[in-house]
Amino acid sequence: VNWTAEEKHAISTIWAKVDIEKLGAHTLSRLLVVYPWTQRYFSNFGNLSSPIAIDGNPRVRAHGKKVLTSFGEAVKNLDNVKTIFDNLSHLHSEKLHVDPQNFKLLGDNLIIELATALGKDFTPEAQAAWQKLVGVVASALSRQYH
Ligand code: HEM
Repeated sequence: VNWTAEEKHAISTIWAKVDIEKLGAHTLSRLLVVYPWTQRYFSNFGNLSSPIAIDGNPRVRAHGKKVLTSFGEAVKNLDNVKTIFDNLSHLHSEKLHVDPQNFKLLGDNLIIELATALGKDFTPEAQAAWQKLVGVVASALSRQYH
């Protein structure tokens, strides 16, 4: 993958504005509400019985933060996303058995939450760059599936 200087700039500018804890919690919550089948992977997380329960679930919040913090590694290593997600790809495939289609869904929800949090700052150019990034991350996480 090649990144233009403009794309790199757009990605880091947006990242500098986000609250990782909030954005992570909202992104994972949204995934679990909008695509309820994703709840199957989190059956040990306790109460996921309604949008309100999901939103208030401390384990969802904590895990959302963990996922977004990990996403931040991609932001900091745009030219190396494949390598840095090698182990995580293994984990999600071999151990967690997460259908890789879900990485795309998480990316879509992240974009929606970014747009919601940032409003006008999430310009069309920023969205295009982020759309590319969530695709690159999804593909890196899918690499160890066979
Ligand atoms: C665990 C990252 C997407 C399901 C994890 C962990 C990280 C991570 C860093 C913790 C690994 C560890 O403990 O060593 C990511 C990233 C994603 C992503 C960067 C996409 C951008 C998903 C999706 C699902 C999922 C879409 C399912 C729908 C899980 C589960 C765990 C996990 C079930 C274990 C949770 C636990 O029991 O603590 N992920 N993940 N992940 N992930 Fe993902």
